[in-house]
Amino acid sequence: MEVPEPERVGVSEFGGRTTRIEVYGELESTNTRLRELASAGAAEGTVVVARSQTAGRGRAGRVWHSPADAGLYASILLRPGIAAERGHLLTFAAAIAVAEGLGGLGVEGLAIKWPNDVLVRGRKICGILTETSLLDGRIDTAVVGIGINVRRAAIPEDLAGVATSLETEGVEVEPAQLLTRVLERLAVWRPGAEGRPADGEIVRRWMELAPMARNAAIRVASGNESFDGVTAGIGDDGRLLVRRADGRIERLASADVSVREK
Ligand code: BTN
Repeated sequence: MEVPEPERVGVSEFGGRTTRIEVYGELESTNTRLRELASAGAAEGTVVVARSQTAGRGRAGRVWHSPADAGLYASILLRPGIAAERGHLLTFAAAIAVAEGLGGLGVEGLAIKWPNDVLVRGRKICGILTETSLLDGRIDTAVVGIGINVRRAAIPEDLAGVATSLETEGVEVEPAQLLTRVLERLAVWRPGAEGRPADGEIVRRWMELAPMARNAAIRVASGNESFDGVTAGIGDDGRLLVRRADGRIERLASADVSVREK
């Protein structure tokens, strides 16, 4: 297999340490490249960025549309060494970091949508794909892949009604600037996965940014099944609690949820 060459290698600051940032013109997927670097021993905080991806990956085996210079396509390596059951806290930290990073640029109407989307005025602007590898039941590496729609061109036609971009929202920013802001906020929240700030604090902040997780009427699509319910918060394991019409509580590990009229 041909090893891709970065266009540029720089240093990045993450949680008080200097780490490496590799910028590529084109990659299949920044997550895939960073997983290779992680296997070769890359350090916590290593970042891979690409101007375009030919096989950008989304959640549930979906494609992440990644045309050149239209979005931020970045992956950040974490080596938390925490128990696998705490993995959702890493994704919570990433979603908070994106929401706060975008908020710092003046973007309004931000919300997190479980499990890991960031929305602006109800439309998706960012998706996060966290891929972990385990060692003795602990998370050895977590590759946190973040895709943010910067320009309108990042949005494929079939998603025009449900997605938005910074350009659409009237915010002018370069992907590199955006990355710096997100990394700054991630460095603040990432220790939360180890209980610093306390789990309660990270979940509290996540809930504050995710109003849909409590008392919202939603439709759940999971595999072949679809049902209606009302959200009832988040479990300790990051699962979404949903109350069905008959009062039963479902604990969702993964699913697609959408808001419906009550
Ligand atoms: C989703 O909402 O389905 C998650 C999308 C994650 C996309 C990002 S773009 C950078 C990184 N590399 C990938 O291949 N995927 C993630």
